[in-house]
Amino acid sequence: MVTNLRKIIMAYQVCINPDCGCRYEIDRVLHSCNVCGELLDVDYEWDLIPVPDSLCYFDRYRFSSSGGVRNFSGVWRYYEFLSFLPLERLVSIGEGRTILQDARFVSSFVGIDAGRFFLQYEGFNPSGSFKDNGMAAAFTHGSFVGAKQAACASTGNTSASLAIYSAATRLMEAVVFVGSGKIAYGKLSQALDYGSKTIQIDGDFDDALLRVRQIASESGIYLVNSVNPFRLEGQKTIMYRVLDDLGWRVPDWIIVPGGNLGNASAFGKAFIELRKLGLIDKTPRIAIINAAGSNTLHQLYGDGEAGKLRWNGGRYDKVMVKNFYDKMTAESRRAHTIASAIEINRPANLSKALRTLEFCNGVVREVTDQEIMDAKAIIGAGGFGCEPASAASVAGAKKLVEEGIIDKEQLTVCILTGHQLKDPNATVAYHGTDQNFFKNTLGKFNITSANFANKPISTPNEKNEILKHL
Ligand code: F0G
Repeated sequence: MVTNLRKIIMAYQVCINPDCGCRYEIDRVLHSCNVCGELLDVDYEWDLIPVPDSLCYFDRYRFSSSGGVRNFSGVWRYYEFLSFLPLERLVSIGEGRTILQDARFVSSFVGIDAGRFFLQYEGFNPSGSFKDNGMAAAFTHGSFVGAKQAACASTGNTSASLAIYSAATRLMEAVVFVGSGKIAYGKLSQALDYGSKTIQIDGDFDDALLRVRQIASESGIYLVNSVNPFRLEGQKTIMYRVLDDLGWRVPDWIIVPGGNLGNASAFGKAFIELRKLGLIDKTPRIAIINAAGSNTLHQLYGDGEAGKLRWNGGRYDKVMVKNFYDKMTAESRRAHTIASAIEINRPANLSKALRTLEFCNGVVREVTDQEIMDAKAIIGAGGFGCEPASAASVAGAKKLVEEGIIDKEQLTVCILTGHQLKDPNATVAYHGTDQNFFKNTLGKFNITSANFANKPISTPNEKNEILKHL
């Protein structure tokens, strides 16, 4: 079956190292290049794919539940750009039905003109985060290669996404690895509720990822972390939807939180391909925002201690990265941030993110947990709640406007990666009046004040007492 299909598939996997460039068939399950160890891309024989002349072609695939998978899914709507398997093989649970929101209240906080600032609200996905874009693609590939079990390490959202796809499709059984005490309750509750096997290990996300990569390689369990190149194909579609909702205009800026750097990698690949295909004539700039307590990319790329790491046509300075990681280990330095989704020491997609930064003339910034929580409160007050990691994008946008890097007239899109209800503890601690809860939840991250808190009012249950507050 696989052999027959291979003949009609116009995609392959390829090592991103220009000095290697090893190619692999689409039905191989790999997390890196067998020869040089670099990450892999999914690439296509573009000449053989019926790519449309104009992006307006995709307007025919507006959402509907009765029009087939391309109308049902905001990922597969753009099938021509990720046609690594035939249409009849695609897996979908209705992911990617997300929209770009004109966020005027938030725009004044950020300092960008009303009507020029948008939030891409990925919390609307079935499991409440952007991960479902990639999971649809990973499940499509995993079930194609005949895997029976799928696993991931997670700070919570990948595991919630894997769990929902497993429960809804029954195609692969889910096994999730999480660091103990490292995952927000909303996310943990999803993995448990959707029935995934949940393994809590001593350690953090990096420890869990190392372990699950080892177990997946040795046991044949299908890995759905973002080192799986098929997952990133699904995540490219977030950018197609942004352009689609802007009437196929290309924004000036895309701003995204940086954790394991899968999104940043996928977004860059989307723009590299659209430019190559001649479907856009401008590339947006990208800003990747680290939490200050989890700032490896910022340290390596920005003005941090390590120096200026650049993609350099694929020949980036691996020694600089190794030295930085060795130093982190020697000093027992571990990421620590309220934005638990992006609490990551060694981002697995670092090299691909460097490629994105080069192609999109990108910048990297870090924001403090205080800035993250204040931005989150503004996003919520504007009617678009999100979890702390997502708010890093808005806090980063504000910083870049203050620095004069982003002009107030520039068309700017921040990606809201995860839903507000993912981490209710952080939200209630910020807005609530319980000082102990505040200290135990937020104080550990040097958050000292809740500058935009909407405090609940305590009052005796008497009409006149209550009326005094109204
Ligand atoms: N925002 C949210 C809400 C996330 O869950 C993540 C990653 C990111 C941003 C960072 O995205 O890794 O593509 O740079 N969460 C992963 C997880 C690590 O396990 O759920 P990235």
